[in-house]
Amino acid sequence: MCGIIGFTGSDDPFGALLDGLTLLEYRGYDSAGVALVNPSESGGIWRSRAAVRAQSIPELKAAADPPAARAGIGHTRWATHGAPTEKNAHPHLDCRGEVAVVHNGIIENYRELSASLVAGGHTLSSQTDTEVVAHLVEEELAGGAGLFEAVQRCSRRLRGDFALAIVSAGEPDLIVATRQTSPLIVGRAEGLGVVASDISALLETTRELYALEDGQVAAVGPGSVEVVDRDGQPLEPTPIRVSWGVQAARREGYEDFMSKEIHEQPRALADTLIGRVHDGLTEFEELALSDEELASIERVVVIACGSSYHAGYIGAASLEQWARIPAHAEIASEFRYRSPVLDGSTLVVAISQSGETVDTYHALREARRRGGRTLVITNVVDSLMAREADGVLYTRAGPEIGVASTKCHVAQILLVQLFALHLARIRRALPPEEAARLAGAIEALPGLVEEALGKAERYEKVAEELSGVNDVFFLGRNIGYPIALEGALKLKELAYVRAEAYAAGEMKHGPISLIDRHSVAVVVATRGPLWPKLLANIEELRARGATVVAVTDEGDAETAGLVELVLEVPPTEELLTPVVAVVPLQLLAYAVARERGNDVDRPRNLAKVVTVE
Ligand code: AGP
Repeated sequence: MCGIIGFTGSDDPFGALLDGLTLLEYRGYDSAGVALVNPSESGGIWRSRAAVRAQSIPELKAAADPPAARAGIGHTRWATHGAPTEKNAHPHLDCRGEVAVVHNGIIENYRELSASLVAGGHTLSSQTDTEVVAHLVEEELAGGAGLFEAVQRCSRRLRGDFALAIVSAGEPDLIVATRQTSPLIVGRAEGLGVVASDISALLETTRELYALEDGQVAAVGPGSVEVVDRDGQPLEPTPIRVSWGVQAARREGYEDFMSKEIHEQPRALADTLIGRVHDGLTEFEELALSDEELASIERVVVIACGSSYHAGYIGAASLEQWARIPAHAEIASEFRYRSPVLDGSTLVVAISQSGETVDTYHALREARRRGGRTLVITNVVDSLMAREADGVLYTRAGPEIGVASTKCHVAQILLVQLFALHLARIRRALPPEEAARLAGAIEALPGLVEEALGKAERYEKVAEELSGVNDVFFLGRNIGYPIALEGALKLKELAYVRAEAYAAGEMKHGPISLIDRHSVAVVVATRGPLWPKLLANIEELRARGATVVAVTDEGDAETAGLVELVLEVPPTEELLTPVVAVVPLQLLAYAVARERGNDVDRPRNLAKVVTVE
């Protein structure tokens, strides 16, 4: 996600924009830029941009000598299309430098729009989807429309998610804003008009704020806000009742980033899906590994750490099941030093939210040194690993601020499973209709996670029963085992509870000696071919006095009848269960941690990016 800001009627729009961007930087910090409407500039728009990761705003402040102006827009970027370079930084301009645009979201049909603009004589200078908007507005203005009308017409041609703020040299006091799915706030004060991605950037300026609804277009002037619906009919915008301070606003009302990001998971999954499944077929614009290259792969090794390893474990299982290719996951810090045997027929897939984890990075380099082909799945465009690999796939979860990974973890699982379907198609390992059915089930995951989040209160009640525990087993079989691994990791890193995950079939080979009437075990018992064996494992635990919490399919009375506590989730394809079943385990760990007064965003001893071995 990115940050958008706009001011009109300000005596110092440049300063106001930079202050606003600073408050929005948590939304993305690859690059930043501002545009001021200044008729004396050639074209009428003055623009300054910088792409110095997390330092772009100070860079703008130091480098710029802004002209006098009355209105301007600004942007801080989390790259989804196009490397985080200055050329790709927003704002983007039209051919004549008379229109400037900032955007948050993903314009799904930008390629066809771009092709038609170029065919019409436009020159596009960036790799972004956003730039097409500036040129579309340019065409409407050239046809005699005013900016307000021009943006209304253009927004009807866009598909995907977008929040846009647009200025034009011809109307120096006007900002036009519109949104589809991505949030956008407009507001006013005496002689002032404001636009922003969220209220955290505006609270210190005004509390007369309005939330734009999908399809609405706002004309924001000094002291004025005029809104029309997608048919151009005027309407009264929805006022926002603001009771938050700035910090709470950054968390959009959530107590902390951890809970915000857990609840952002449906959005992270939906954004990661955009443009990647068409009529049941997968398509990856940025992959850079051709079907021919992938067809020559005979084995896949997935390398990662922590939660990314758990996602990789699920990905390897999916690759083996669907693409019928030998695949396994390894802890990156182990892979690196075990002198692995691999060659050009081995695809080494590195999964890393940050793209900077040193264990995974060096393991990736070792794989390349030994002749393996490499693919990186990461959340950070152009990260260290993304630049190192033969191919890359980006999750689009937006910045993950909480140290414990949640929305990136599920986005990684979804993306590696889409890749598994991609490879299955290339290897003709799945009947096309089965692949299409699985792709459809993957596309349904955002809704199922939303449903699971709707049960949060019930999950929290289970957590209350466990708040005093200090030693928890997590058990699962097959695809339930990496879910158990992730549930145990979350409880460790958030609640500081000793939590160990075992493959349930392994308990009888030793660990069951630990079970007694003080034991607590969380068993991932969603319905699958091995569900009856999990019931037997539950009986073994209960026979020794353990308290058992079961993650079950919704309405599974048989399993519920065997255990004390139940965490129900909506059912899905067996291999797709992890994305849904992890939600109650995240919320369980979160609730126990909060109950213990832990800092859930910055757990002790941890760092968001581990850059030491
Ligand atoms: C997950 O909750 C942890 N924060 C940690 O295990 C993390 O997944 C691991 O350090 C890998 O990070 P990466 O995805 O950025 O490589």
